[in-house]
Amino acid sequence: MSAMDARPAPRVEPVDGRALRDVCGHFVTGVTVITSGAGERAAGTTVNSFTSVSLDPPLVLFCLHRESRLRAVVRESGWYVVNFLAGRQEKLARAFAGRDTAAIADVGHRPCSTGAPVLSEALGFLSCRLVDEVEGGDHVIFVGEVVELGLSGRARDPLIFFRGSLGALEEEPRGAHPIFDG
Ligand SMILES: Cc1cc2nc3c(=O)[nH]c(=O)nc-3n(C[C@H](O)[C@H](O)[C@H](O)COP(=O)(O)O)c2cc1C
Repeated sequence: MSAMDARPAPRVEPVDGRALRDVCGHFVTGVTVITSGAGERAAGTTVNSFTSVSLDPPLVLFCLHRESRLRAVVRESGWYVVNFLAGRQEKLARAFAGRDTAAIADVGHRPCSTGAPVLSEALGFLSCRLVDEVEGGDHVIFVGEVVELGLSGRARDPLIFFRGSLGALEEEPRGAHPIFDG
């Protein structure tokens, strides 16, 4: 029995999904397009559930809804790329966020060392080897080991997602927090 099982269960009302989405929408995030596969199998999906997990080993994760077309592509290839979108890539974010998602062949990209597509103009990318797939309710949590990475080289603002809206970060950066200065 885990410590969590031993806790007394409080009486709680079920959480309304729309309210959960609304509150979580107040947590500002960047926006990524996860790409995977090669050639005709290449696919991409807009995702904001990305987070870094560990530096040693270098692990990152993202959550994907169970019915996503990308799920089979990532499983099949075992590799994927996290593309961090720049402020001016809002159109691209929308193109990979619908049921009729864009084709990788129609957007600027190049293959990274694993063959998975890296999107042109992205702020940066992490190329990953799929190391774990964890059930997470109506989503699946994909954990990847970073095997290759890069930045665009040109400093640009990120695309951000806040309260259901996509937009560029308008405020001037105020410098890094000391905790990240090493
Ligand atoms: C800003 C933004 C963030 C999103 N984040 C996620 C996410 O983290 N996980 C997810 O499964 N879908 C997310 N979506 C929805 C998917 O992009 C969308 O359901 C998907 O493209 C539909 O097709 P597919 O999943 O079959 O490719 C997000 C959409 C937008 C616009």
